[in-house]
Amino acid sequence: MGILNVGTNNDIQESHFYRHLIHKKIISRIFHRFSSKKIRTAIFNLLKKMGFNHEKSYKMIDISCGYDDLIIELAQKFRNSEITGNDLCDKQLLSIPRKAKINNITLTKRNILSNEFCETETYDLIICKNTLHHLPRSDQLYLLRKLIRTGKNVIIVEIENPLKSSLSAYVWNFYYRKFLGDDGSNFLSRFDFFNLISRSNNENPTTKIFLSDLKTIKGNYMFALVRNKIRIPNQPNLGEND
Ligand SMILES: C[S@@+](CC[C@H](N)C(=O)[O-])C[C@H]1O[C@@H](n2cnc3c(N)ncnc32)[C@H](O)[C@@H]1O
Repeated sequence: MGILNVGTNNDIQESHFYRHLIHKKIISRIFHRFSSKKIRTAIFNLLKKMGFNHEKSYKMIDISCGYDDLIIELAQKFRNSEITGNDLCDKQLLSIPRKAKINNITLTKRNILSNEFCETETYDLIICKNTLHHLPRSDQLYLLRKLIRTGKNVIIVEIENPLKSSLSAYVWNFYYRKFLGDDGSNFLSRFDFFNLISRSNNENPTTKIFLSDLKTIKGNYMFALVRNKIRIPNQPNLGEND
């Protein structure tokens, strides 16, 4: 496993580190089958339907992987592929299994909102999961446009506003905010999400968009898959903050 630019030990001691450790090792193991496992299964089913072949070699990135096990599962299933797990925080280090031999993951620590991010690289698959609500509205559109230019296939997964959807979603959000110090608050309604996805796609009319939902114990997750039939080259960042 390669680790690029992941910072110092001090960075690893980020706020609430031990709480995140407890969450990862205990809470999420108890509840994962009711939420994160369901989402991962849905993503792998989607990849199968899209024709991704385990034996082939792809370039894939989870742009804000946190310590979700998705990159580990991708790396184990797609052994010949190059998997990048990016996140601004070092939380991603929590997902590295101590014993499993995984040599096709690279961890990076880049700001997805920086101009350099995704300006020159291209990917067969980009995953943006549970990230949009951490970004200001104008940056959500800026990021999605950039991802859609950069990836042949882009999967976006976002929780429907947990403050307005169900009691269990509300309670889980309370736990994330109060116990884990989660500061994401720019939640999207279903309408806003679907609207945002269609607005982010208007530069390339050859893309195809598929939308769906998945109910979990933590709330309703909204899925968007954007497939580029013909890729257009990356263009300079002009007036995208509308
Ligand atoms: C709610 S977590 C989701 C993590 C993971 N994708 C998942 O589904 O479990 C949001 C993640 O986005 C990362 N993030 C937020 N803003 C970012 C930025 N500008 N650049 C890179 N990562 C960012 C946070 O550090 C955090 O790990």
